Formats: sequence, structure tokens, C-alpha cells
Amino acid sequence: MEMKSNYKILSIESSCDETSCAVVQDGRLVLSNVVSSQIDIHTRFGGVVPEVASRNHISAIDNVVNSALTQANLTLNEIDAIAVTYGAGLLGALLVGVSYAKALAYASKKPLIAVNHIYGHIASNYISYKELQPPFLCLLVSGGHTALIKVDNYISHTVVGETMDDSVGESFDKIARVLGLGYPGGPMIQKYANGGKDNIVFAKQNDNMGYNFSFSGKKTAVINYVHKLEQNNIPIPVPNICASYQKWAVDELVDKTIKASVELNMDKIVIAGGVSANVYLRDSMKQKASAYKKEVYFPEMKYCTDNAAMIGSAAYYLIQNGVPFADNTLAPNPSIPL
Ligand code: KG4
Ligand code: ZN
Repeated sequence: MEMKSNYKILSIESSCDETSCAVVQDGRLVLSNVVSSQIDIHTRFGGVVPEVASRNHISAIDNVVNSALTQANLTLNEIDAIAVTYGAGLLGALLVGVSYAKALAYASKKPLIAVNHIYGHIASNYISYKELQPPFLCLLVSGGHTALIKVDNYISHTVVGETMDDSVGESFDKIARVLGLGYPGGPMIQKYANGGKDNIVFAKQNDNMGYNFSFSGKKTAVINYVHKLEQNNIPIPVPNICASYQKWAVDELVDKTIKASVELNMDKIVIAGGVSANVYLRDSMKQKASAYKKEVYFPEMKYCTDNAAMIGSAAYYLIQNGVPFADNTLAPNPSIPL
């Protein structure tokens, strides 16, 4: 579609435990991005409780949307389209955002844009790097996915490899839980790893998976290691376990990403998803990529984890590249395949 200039999209994200609304202009300029996190609520349960998430989205969404308009200094009239994450994610959580967006679009007679959450994570890099365009190789490391994908253009991609079991984020979350570090686990593992040494070798795993990944066996090896120490009343060296696991998991991600970028002849490597906030991943990827003259892109920290700005950016490029608007029949899809 030929886009008018200053095209403003109001976007809504509610796929997991963040209720967020943003206003994004022309796919790259964030006019506002309000994120209401439920992390404190779910921390008490040691993870996201779907039913609790839905109810908190319901109570937060109206204020979050109004704040996004206020902070952008705009009225609903000045918005060109409404975008919403329709999947993947928790069904009840998605349902809140999708229903709200449908009602808002209907009442204000604005077009509706359905966005795949994963396209949002990729687009978080378009916000941070105004010149970045596909094609590129993307390492997608969100709570739900771990995959290497070739982003061919703004609306299609090819899966190069993906996890055969858990995502790397899930493995961080589960190990953190066993170590009693709280939720979400990724940032806690990183924090404790900083004060530790990566000197522990856990039970070795075979890797004949090509560009696919596996984190479930690694996670179990770490958990077994912890249990064995507990049974023998040996103090748990939490920082060293965190540092050693972080290195083990991240080195696999980095090595396979670099290898794929060389083999597929991709000069740009784009990292996306919550785990892209990990500082060891950032440093290690940059360092190894520079040896191969590859350019590496990471979202700004505030756009790594779930937010609506990335959804507004992805929405713009979907419409610009010919994906039709959604309508009132839009339904959430908890498990869109990669
Ligand atoms: O992309 P995201 O916000 O949510 C999904 O779409 O799933 O990713 C959440 C994941 C969680 O597993 C969390 O532990 C992880 O990202 N994470 C991190 C860091 N910050 C968030 N993992 C490692 N290091 C971090 N600094
Ligand atoms: Zn996400």
C-alpha cells in the first residue's frame, strides 16, 4: 500500500505479562510506548499464571491506551490505524488485547492490523536502527522461541534452525527457579553470573543438530548437578553455576549464528527477543562477529522484552508490503508456527 507520510499506528501488546500500548509513526519513530508490567504480581507465584495475567490485562489496558495517546500528545482522531498482537502467546492474555483493539477500531472507524508477536520482536531493531532493512539473519531468542531465521523481506522469512525442545529463555527461567533466584530468571542468571566463574562442566550433551538447538538436556544437567550437591549437603555455588550455564547456552547460540551467517553469506546479524538483553550474549556476539566482518544489531534495552512499540513498527511494514487489514473476525492464535 502507498503509505501517506506521518502515518500513525496505535499498537497494543498483551500476549504474556506486559500490557503495553504505543504510538509509532512511519514504522520507525516512537511517539509513546507505555508498558505496564505484571512481573511483581507473578513473582509471588514463581512464573506467569495465565488466569492472573488475563485479569490484570483487563484492569490495566484502558489506562495504558489512554496514557499512550496522552504521552504522544494525540487524540484517537489523529491515529491512522490500530494494531494488535494476535499471537503467539497466552490465549486469555491475547484475547484481552485483540478484543480491545477490535472494539476500538470499530468504534473509531479505523483499520485494524493483526501482528505476529515474532515480527514485533524483529521490528524492535527497525526502531533502534533507522537504516536497517531486510534481508538479514535473525537470532530470535524470546521466552517462547529460540530460532535462527533468514528474514527475506518485511513479510516473509525462512527458518534456518530452531530449538527441538525448550527455548533458551525458558531454560534460564527454570534454572533460576531451582536456584531460588526468582522470576524472570534470565536477568537473575545474568546478575549472579557477573560475580561467578564459568568453571563448572556439566554433563556433556551430544550436538549433531546442525543449526537446531536443544536446551532441555542442558537444563536437566544443571538441575541434576544442583540436586546432587544438595543431597550431599554441599553449599551451592550459585554465581559459578550461573556463569557456567550462561556461557554454555550463549556460546551455542553465538557459534551457530556466526556459522550460519558465513554459510548463508549474510552480512547482517540481527538479535531479537527478551534474551537479547543479555550482556554476555551481546558482548560475545559482537566480538565473534567482528572477526568475520559481520554487522551485529541489538534492540535498545527497553525494546528487548515485550512492548507495543515493536508491534506498531511491524504493523506498518505489513501494510506497506501488501498484507491486508484485519477485520472484526480477528481471533487470537496462541500458537502461530514460526
Ligand atoms: O521476548 P520476551 O520478553 O517474552 C516472550 O516473547 O516470550 O522474553 C522473555 C524471556 C524470559 O525467558 C527472560 O528470562 C528472558 O527473556 N530475559 C533474559 C534477560 N532479560 C530477559 N535472559 C537472559 N538475560 C537477560 N538479561
Ligand atoms: Zn516476546
